Amino acid sequence: MGLEWESIAAIQRMLPYKALSVGTVGRWVIAGVCYDRVIVPPAALLHLGRVERKIVEELSTYARPAFVAGRLALRAALNAVPGSPTCPEGFRRATDGAPALPGGFMGSITHKACLALAVAGADCGVGVGIDLESKLPERSKLSDRILNADEMKELRLLSPCDLWPEVLARFSLKEAAFKSLTAPLRYAIHSFKQMSVRMSGIVRSTGVFQDADIEIASDRLPVALVVHGMVALLGKQVLALSWADCQDAM
Ligand SMILES: CC(C)(COP(=O)(O)OP(=O)(O)OC[C@H]1O[C@@H](n2cnc3c(N)ncnc32)[C@H](O)[C@@H]1OP(=O)(O)O)[C@@H](O)C(=O)NCCC(=O)NCCS
Repeated sequence: MGLEWESIAAIQRMLPYKALSVGTVGRWVIAGVCYDRVIVPPAALLHLGRVERKIVEELSTYARPAFVAGRLALRAALNAVPGSPTCPEGFRRATDGAPALPGGFMGSITHKACLALAVAGADCGVGVGIDLESKLPERSKLSDRILNADEMKELRLLSPCDLWPEVLARFSLKEAAFKSLTAPLRYAIHSFKQMSVRMSGIVRSTGVFQDADIEIASDRLPVALVVHGMVALLGKQVLALSWADCQDAM
């Protein structure tokens, strides 16, 4: 499915915003919006709902452009989901910071380095999360913070130039997995080391997605959960998508 909707045309009229046609992944629709780091065009604010404009007023000027672009991307993605409502009020922030979608729909937002992406789909009891991470600068200490001993062992054999994209891909998958969990499940985990990523291959060529399973183990969960994901390098960024089908586990 392409992204040829009125909402995309509207975003394109709001310079410096530029909508990207990203398309669908399975039953999920992804939409993207490029934004300026500093400027929030007044026309963009007009396309937000009342609830969202109120949030913008409370944000620092630094945080506004990304927030606005994320909400526009979410609106564009949701508009392309069959049967979705128009949501004139916009999407409020849930107490944990996640965007609140109307009943019957799920979605997630990420924004990094002037690109905002959002994913939306119908709620079939499956959460969804999306995450973008910048490749640069390399953060050598990240692996100590997010990889568990088994993952460290697995990555030990990689060459130095393959290692950083692989660590970043796992981080992005874990962030996306975190976002895909509903609140009670999310509170059962306190460290990314409780997540173990298994990938179908290593993340090397740009635009080539690798499938992944992310196993989440916690003494607060009766059984380990497995959420699914996919991850790819996209130029200077890593994009991960994750969806859970285990919301009944608690
Ligand atoms: C919340 C978090 C996932 C955001 O990720 P990020 O890489 O910093 O930023 P991104 O741009 O990718 O995502 C930001 C968006 O995530 C969404 N978000 C924020 N909190 C969220 C949450 N608890 N659940 C789902 N989505 C959330 C919001 O839509 C936000 O954009 P908005 O404020 O414009 O609406 C991240 O900061 C975080 O807290 N990760 C978990 C860290 C942690 O506690 N790990 C240990 C336990 S697993």
